[in-house]
Amino acid sequence: MLLTTDEIMLFLMRNKVSKQNIYALICKLNTFTDMKIFTRTAAIHAYLSSEKNAGKTVGFVPTMGALHQGHISLIRASRKENDITVCSLFVNPSQFNDAEDLQKYPRNHDVDLAMLTEENCEVAFLPTVLEVYPPGLETAVNVDLEGLDRRLEGKFRPGHFDGMMEVVHRLLQITIPDKLYMGQKDFQQQLIVDKMIEKLGLSVSLEVCPIIREADGLAMSSRNTRLTQEFRSRAAVINQALTAIAENFDKMDLSACRQEALTTIRHAGLRPEYLEICETESLEALETWKSKGQHVALTAAWAGDIRLIDNVVF
Ligand code: PAJ
Repeated sequence: MLLTTDEIMLFLMRNKVSKQNIYALICKLNTFTDMKIFTRTAAIHAYLSSEKNAGKTVGFVPTMGALHQGHISLIRASRKENDITVCSLFVNPSQFNDAEDLQKYPRNHDVDLAMLTEENCEVAFLPTVLEVYPPGLETAVNVDLEGLDRRLEGKFRPGHFDGMMEVVHRLLQITIPDKLYMGQKDFQQQLIVDKMIEKLGLSVSLEVCPIIREADGLAMSSRNTRLTQEFRSRAAVINQALTAIAENFDKMDLSACRQEALTTIRHAGLRPEYLEICETESLEALETWKSKGQHVALTAAWAGDIRLIDNVVF
């Protein structure tokens, strides 16, 4: 039987072992075990508070599990810059606008924990829904996102960003990190989290890491495992279409570039939901080119019944 760190803590507390002795014991145990696994909010919060009081820095990588090399790149970035890296594995129900997507979201905690151990990640957090959202606790986040949440993903996944902000904010309260690591893969998500941090005056700095891709250019995603073989091979077209836009920047008319990308994706048998060339900070759709570095081409496309997103900044 695998005992999580908080189960051990609970046992020792029940047996009247002092908190100080418990932490001393955990530090000793840490020499032998690779990673501390928490499932309880109170326990991980107490542990991280005491480590921070002792001068340790904390990096936090929130995930929904089904880890791949994209997630691992965030863990590595955090481990380079912090004493303790915390990775959460939590499939957050409040950000799914599609019940079937939630139900079918891949879950494989054993493999995830093995991968995190391999990376020498210090802490894994696997809370239940009730731990994250205890009855009576107000967890909704209300900030004016200046329209960022209404465009692109926001238009097609109503409520998604409210749920995403709710869980990220809650997880930040629990893990009190110095730095938060997120991927450029979810471009709109990281912009919204950045805006939330700014508007709420949270004392955490957001570090955005580059997109990790498969050899054929497909952005790594937990949902890729659900693609049929046929759609898996066709899905590389998404990145090809976006890259072509970046290559034609300033050579071709912007709207012609956009139309060409849509056609490329459709010809491969995928169904684009949106494809826009936007300004990188406001995410406002552009009609003419701006200066180099100020554009991001973003798309969501259905490959069969799997929805994939990707973007290229140029
Ligand atoms: P999830 O899709 O598991 O992604 C967790 C983090 O990994 C996000 O910051 C995401 O941008 C990053 N990521 C995913 N694929 C990546 C890739 N190919 N390269 C680099 N980074 C990648 O995003 C979520 O979970 C959730 O919305 C979450 C923030 C955890 C809130 O529930």
